Amino acid sequence: MAQEHLRRKLIEYVQNVHALEQNVLLMLDAMILTTDDEEIREILRQHKEETRLQEQRLAERRTALGGVGLASMGKDLSAILVAQAKGAADLWRSDKPVQNARDAFVTEHLEIAAYEILERLAERAGDHETAEVARMNRAEEEAMAQRIAANWDRFLDLTLAKAGVRG
Ligand SMILES: [Fe+2]
Repeated sequence: MAQEHLRRKLIEYVQNVHALEQNVLLMLDAMILTTDDEEIREILRQHKEETRLQEQRLAERRTALGGVGLASMGKDLSAILVAQAKGAADLWRSDKPVQNARDAFVTEHLEIAAYEILERLAERAGDHETAEVARMNRAEEEAMAQRIAANWDRFLDLTLAKAGVRG
């Protein structure tokens, strides 16, 4: 019985994280469109490919676990998604490299936290495949967060250049 509860909770979490990744794909598209710097755009493009695969892995786990749609999407994550969608809309208007970088950095850490939790829940529910997907996806998010963190000066330079200010 406890195991069945864990399983149901796990399905809910897999669906939540899947929805998160779908939203991240949209965010990455918005960021790619509002980034002029070719090197940064390439980093974003690569992560979009990674995110597509992450999304697919989660979709496979959702199917394997017998989950359906997004009917049980948690309130917390929904609120985050709405906030993110708003953030993505802001990006279209603002086109500010540091804002893009900040939002991308926050999003990667939101994903890292989601995968830390998903991995542990999956292990407790005895689902090692989902735990492995969570670990794999998290490693990619951590690498992306590091790539962003390695470029703070570049983001600032780009923003200042746009504003016509020398840093
Ligand atoms: Fe990511």
